[in-house]
Amino acid sequence: MLGTRLATPLLTAAGCGGTGRELEPHLDLTTLGAFTTRSLTLDASPGAPAPRLVETASGVLWNTGGQNPGLQGFLASELPWLAQRQVRVVVSLAGGTPGEYAELARRLGNAPGVWGLELNLATANREDHGRRFCDEAYHAGKAVAAVREALPRTLPVLAKLAPGPGLVDVAGVVARAGADAVVLVHGAPGLAFDPTTWRPALGTVAGTVSGPAVLAQALRCVWQVHAALPQLPVIGAGGVRSGFDVVQMLLSGARAVELGTALLREPAAPVRIAEELREELLRHGTTDLAGLIGAGHTTSRGEPR
Ligand SMILES: Cc1cc2nc3c(=O)[nH]c(=O)nc-3n(C[C@H](O)[C@H](O)[C@H](O)COP(=O)(O)O)c2cc1C
Repeated sequence: MLGTRLATPLLTAAGCGGTGRELEPHLDLTTLGAFTTRSLTLDASPGAPAPRLVETASGVLWNTGGQNPGLQGFLASELPWLAQRQVRVVVSLAGGTPGEYAELARRLGNAPGVWGLELNLATANREDHGRRFCDEAYHAGKAVAAVREALPRTLPVLAKLAPGPGLVDVAGVVARAGADAVVLVHGAPGLAFDPTTWRPALGTVAGTVSGPAVLAQALRCVWQVHAALPQLPVIGAGGVRSGFDVVQMLLSGARAVELGTALLREPAAPVRIAEELREELLRHGTTDLAGLIGAGHTTSRGEPR
């Protein structure tokens, strides 16, 4: 379903493309598969104390604390700007309860410009976000079912999950609850210290690691979920920064890919990566992107691995 409805397989990842305005000078947002917003809550949130992002050896450690303008602020000043430009918008939602997810979905479901909803069900920041995130399959399933029921029209519902030992089970639960796809992954829990103060480098103790450090982990998550649930569309996220990284995600089973940290340093990364992807395919004598999805799960003779 997703592969055919997206113009290209490259989306932005939640929280990494600002409001869209920041990216606009660098790329035509309508060429993206979709633009994903930062996670929205019902009420505006000031977020975590600074610093919220530090560089580590192979990625960033971050904790925004869920800073966002709240539903009203988003509807008043962010969504209209994106809708006017006909950008396909995936709105990321963060609720503390299934009822909060449902309320957000109800009020966004008919808003012009909303192409899909992504439910942030990840736990990586749990200790800092407190009740905002839920990991247990039970809560994740309830949140997806509540959103499905609340939606006034048919919209893609994506469930974004954090890596973890129960990932395949959670993916199965959210799929049965009505998710159209899972987004894997949100990043991994992490910690870094400030070399001068010897205190934790973020304003909170822990954060989430994103960027190249999590690519291999994300690929494995995509692979495992695709192997267990081959009918469930997967969108890969985590450390993608080249055309070959996209190929790896597709071979593992992803139908599309979200770009996050890559945008922070290089806002035009989707343009370069799309070009590299075309070159990768040409080098391998194919233009059949769809043929790559899950192809890593079979041998060159087409037998299952
Ligand atoms: C600064 C920053 C803010 C983020 N904010 C959100 C967010 O609001 N909601 C969410 O679901 N994920 C958020 N993420 C996670 C990304 O969407 C993505 O899943 C993760 O960073 C892994 O992809 P990447 O390695 O390409 O960045 C954020 C990541 C970063 C670096």
